[in-house]
Amino acid sequence: MVQTAPKTQFAEARTPSIEPLRQLVADDMAAVNREILARMASEVSLIPELASHLIAAGGKRIRPLLTLGAARLCGYRGDKHVLLAACVEFIHTATLLHDDVVDESERRRGNSTANVLWGNQPSVLVGDFLFSRAFQLMVETGSLEVLRILANASAVIAEGEVLQLMTANDMDSTEADYLRVIEAKTAALFAAATRVGAVIAGRPEPEVQAMDDYGRFLGIAFQLVDDALDYSSDGATLGKNTGDDFREGKVTLPVALAFDRGTEAERGFWRRVIERPEEQNDDDWSQALRYLERHGTIAETLERARLYGHKAHEALAVFPAVPAREALAEAVDFAIGRAL
Ligand code: IPE
Ligand code: IPE
Ligand code: MG
Ligand code: MG
Repeated sequence: MVQTAPKTQFAEARTPSIEPLRQLVADDMAAVNREILARMASEVSLIPELASHLIAAGGKRIRPLLTLGAARLCGYRGDKHVLLAACVEFIHTATLLHDDVVDESERRRGNSTANVLWGNQPSVLVGDFLFSRAFQLMVETGSLEVLRILANASAVIAEGEVLQLMTANDMDSTEADYLRVIEAKTAALFAAATRVGAVIAGRPEPEVQAMDDYGRFLGIAFQLVDDALDYSSDGATLGKNTGDDFREGKVTLPVALAFDRGTEAERGFWRRVIERPEEQNDDDWSQALRYLERHGTIAETLERARLYGHKAHEALAVFPAVPAREALAEAVDFAIGRAL
């Protein structure tokens, strides 16, 4: 994070990055970080202790950056975007605390998860606290429309996580189910994050919708990449363990595609490891990786992410080609090319 890339004469060919967006809204983001720290406070010491463990570890802060970028692109001049960006990050952080309990995950942002360090009960309750803080921040904007958008997104995220629970450990769940899950658990918050930027700026409906589309398509692409990385990256890079989806028996796209294309023997393998993950043995992970490789399903998942990324780019077309639009466009390519 603190390292800057060496300057080269091939600046145009550099890897897509979130940095242009981060730099464009750097002052606003500093205010968001101050807001986040201030709102984490509580006299109940376990709350800031546990919350700061996760929040101080950083994370990409991509969702609040998107809110600030959307507000900037939409010409917003007030200061409510800071509250909104903080609110969006609080919702995200709350879902992470809950998600790591549900997924029994042990690593997050390069550290042990809160559920490992403090247990499930504090993680769930502090997650509830952060959700409630997010609602306080929404109310402070004084906009009923913003409240409606973010309250809806919060309900949809919870639906997505429950739907995922219902479709896990079931090889008969479909690609359509998978898409429904990721649209709900991930893309809904991205869409809300960018939509509210246009709403507070008072933009007309087509632009509000364009910002919503941009965020939603970017969110779908983001989760597709995340699901590919769960099979293809490594824990040190990701800051969370790979293989969590496999161990939990989640039917993510790489697995769904490999199942569709597999021989009878392969399909039997997937049924066993996904439907009865408690019976997984030491060789199953490498066997799974071989089957994914054989059918090229990681590459295809990334290709699918690029298609959604393309849609996100298209959504930006209604806006003028100003630096904020370019930075948001590059954020899409960052999400698709990201390794963490
Ligand atoms: C993790 O989100 C949850 C997913 C939707 C995959 P991020 O990858 O944005 O997590 P942080 O905030 O950067 O840690
Ligand atoms: C992230 O989902 C949680 C939400 C989007 C609510 P995942 O379970 O797929 O992401 P990681 O791998 O834990 O970050
Ligand atoms: Mg998880
Ligand atoms: Mg999960």
